[in-house]
Amino acid sequence: MKKRSILLLMAALSIVIGFGAMSFPESSKIITDFGDETPLWDVLEKLGMSGAPRAKSIAESSAERGSEFVHKGYSSKNGKKTAKLSKFYVCTTCHNTVKEFEDPSKISAADRLDYAAKTGIPYLQASTFYGIVNRNNFFNGDYRKQFEKDPEIQKASGDIRAAIKFCNKNFAQSRELEEWELESILSYFWTLQFKVSDLKLSTVDKEQIKKALQSENAKASALSFIQSKYVQAMPATFLKIPRFAAPKEDAYKDSKRLKDGKVIYEQSCLHCHLNKRYSFFSLENELLTFKAMEKATRSENYIFSMYYLTREGLPPRMGHHSAMPLFTAEKLSPEQLESLYLYVSARAKKKYKEQ
Ligand code: HEC
Ligand code: HEC
Repeated sequence: MKKRSILLLMAALSIVIGFGAMSFPESSKIITDFGDETPLWDVLEKLGMSGAPRAKSIAESSAERGSEFVHKGYSSKNGKKTAKLSKFYVCTTCHNTVKEFEDPSKISAADRLDYAAKTGIPYLQASTFYGIVNRNNFFNGDYRKQFEKDPEIQKASGDIRAAIKFCNKNFAQSRELEEWELESILSYFWTLQFKVSDLKLSTVDKEQIKKALQSENAKASALSFIQSKYVQAMPATFLKIPRFAAPKEDAYKDSKRLKDGKVIYEQSCLHCHLNKRYSFFSLENELLTFKAMEKATRSENYIFSMYYLTREGLPPRMGHHSAMPLFTAEKLSPEQLESLYLYVSARAKKKYKEQ
């Protein structure tokens, strides 16, 4: 009897202590310690990093409104709906807002596709907003070359606000953002910053960082150690349209490649094209579409060819001002593009079996 009541008391105590700890958000303490949920910037700043692109708090702006702009394409002010940002898209037409990688220091197209296959998230041309406030450069690599004549690219490459505006003008076909709208989007981005647990840090790594937080000399090296654990600027490599070559018959027995192709078709192409969701052109999950796509892809330089479209993209045309952004090598590798054809042709020739 006595033993039981002691156990009960212990259980009650641990609940109280547990809740006590939970109601103390890590970020409100002076950090010499951190947990898995601690926002990464809190740790970085304690290690001496500056330049966090925090949102300004101005009247009307909030992370909730930012989330509405990003996911719905409009928000409200004084109880009234704002004008839509774009006639055609929302930000999530092209960008995810969730993690795209198991390990943010390993960001190959293969890593990204495996993660999309596992989680079911869309597989898109643009980079995710998750962790975007932890990046310091935007529109990198070949985007910088593509827009080298546009003076705005200089600003956009090092400043997150300018990057948002640059995307709006050049990709999202959006109207201009008012200041409170821009700050709202940025506030929303801050809710998507990395937490300590998003980085692949071992227990030993974390102990080392905790020690460094208490000693002035070790801070700089701890900072660069942490920065080696996530990619701070998304690389971008444009590729030429590949020459079409029919896959070998053996390839149709490669279930991993067929599955990759299926994930790309369903979580990328159909994300925008199923029932003309974000485009004026419809792709379906059915034989006629597969036949048409297969045939088009065999023709060199044909605008409906998947090889052409994914590498060149499609600029806005008369009447329709929506455009399809190209896929860089980082967002769709050459092997993945072949896997897409493999899957589509298997469906077209009715030789696809569910893997
Ligand atoms: C039609 C597609 C499309 C839409 C819609 C779109 N974007 Fe983009 N965005 C892109 C592409 C393509 C890039 C360049 C590649 C990348 O993200 O790495 C880009 C890049 C960005 C970047 C820089 C990312 C980086 O790490 O380099 C920001 C910031 C951004 N977009 C914000 C927005 C916001 C905010 C919206 C909605 C208001 C939006 N985008 C809507 C296609 C789009
Ligand atoms: C982010 C959204 C998006 C994704 C992802 C996407 N597309 Fe598109 N696609 C568009 C838009 C927008 C157009 C422009 C034409 C339009 O709206 O009619 C377009 C155009 C096309 C066209 C040409 C239609 C024409 O009118 O000439 C084809 C074919 C096509 N896409 C196939 C694909 C395939 C295959 C994939 C997957 C690898 C894909 N798309 C992925 C948005 C997308």
